[in-house]
Amino acid sequence: MSRSVTCDVQRTVYTCTMQTMTATRKIVVHSAGGYDHLKLESAPTAAPARGQVRIDVRAIGVNYADTIVRMGLYASAKEFVGWPITPGFEVAGVVAAVGAGVDDLPIGTEVFAVTLFGGYASQVVVDRDKVFRRPARTTFEQAAALPAVYMTAWYALFELAHPRRGARVLVHSAAGGVGGALVQMAKLAGCEVAGVVGTSGKVAAARTLGADHVIDKSTQDLWREAERIAPTGYDVVLDANGVTTLGASYRHLRRAGKLVVYGFHSMLPKTGGRPSWPKLALDYVRTPRFNPLDMTNESRSVLAFNLSYLFDRQDLLNEAMAQIIDWIEAGKIQPPTITTYPLADVARAHADIESGRTIGKLVLVP
Ligand SMILES: NC(=O)c1ccc[n+]([C@@H]2O[C@H](COP(=O)([O-])OP(=O)(O)OC[C@H]3O[C@@H](n4cnc5c(N)ncnc54)[C@H](OP(=O)(O)O)[C@@H]3O)[C@@H](O)[C@H]2O)c1
Repeated sequence: MSRSVTCDVQRTVYTCTMQTMTATRKIVVHSAGGYDHLKLESAPTAAPARGQVRIDVRAIGVNYADTIVRMGLYASAKEFVGWPITPGFEVAGVVAAVGAGVDDLPIGTEVFAVTLFGGYASQVVVDRDKVFRRPARTTFEQAAALPAVYMTAWYALFELAHPRRGARVLVHSAAGGVGGALVQMAKLAGCEVAGVVGTSGKVAAARTLGADHVIDKSTQDLWREAERIAPTGYDVVLDANGVTTLGASYRHLRRAGKLVVYGFHSMLPKTGGRPSWPKLALDYVRTPRFNPLDMTNESRSVLAFNLSYLFDRQDLLNEAMAQIIDWIEAGKIQPPTITTYPLADVARAHADIESGRTIGKLVLVP
């Protein structure tokens, strides 16, 4: 009897000690703001519930959207989480614990996963169906950089735009995370790709990704060059700039062309980390409104989406990830170029991605 009591006490003590040792380090944003609002905090490590997996995180993908979350302007973050929030849509790591009902991912399996926020942490708990085995050809850093931008590119191109072989496709921000994935996938689909970049330092990267033409808008007239490359217009334009290019992107579609809209980063600042409210208001008013009557007569379409609102579309996630993993394993597409930062340097990563100067993906290492 006394032995069993001692044993229970010991187990209790042991459990507490383990919890202290495995406390989760995570980035918490308590209210909207600049880089100083990214706080590194500690919290007890959560146990996975039925159907969930806990991942010991080795790498975390940074997305431009995370900066918009920090600024308090990301609609789905406000709708699904509110404050405080831990940003982050993607991680890679090792399965550390599983909940009841998860019998196909043994502890120690190397995985990557998508998270609906909460990814900036040393441990995350996610539903089993959001977790995928790490492709053998990728490091943890590369695997963490895959899901958000490759899923976005896959959805934009293959679910919405459906370009035919030989289609002329114009990709804005072609050396960035999503842009780099779009260039590679459009080439895989047999398209002729014009990639637009904002600095001369990105031209070589866009070419390496496979762009047939690269327009450096810091030294060239973007639309004169775009017209020279495709005098009759583009079959598909992929635009996350927003107000600065949306109207012209639409006007440069040929008949039957499709404009895919998936972001509005030109409304936001490149330095300082805080939005200008007058600029936001002005850009909102100036953002083109597309008229269905005109679109019908011109036979050109505008399509738009935000993946964070499609998180419950497990069918799309499974199909996209199976295809992306296949392409990566077969060497048909390459993982993005990676720049790593310690988790504690998240502010620098945010400042860098906002600067518009980064190439490929940024990854945090906890
Ligand atoms: N709808 C969705 O589901 C979804 C999913 C993922 C990402 N996104 C959006 O896709 C875009 C790219 O995301 P990402 O994470 O892959 O980032 P990224 O392309 O790696 O970095 C952002 C790039 O956008 C351009 N840029 C940034 N700030 C700008 C500004 N103020 N004015 C003009 N251009 C600016 C810069 O490229 P250049 O100067 O070379 O153009 C910069 O390198 C973002 O707008 C993001 O919100 C949307």
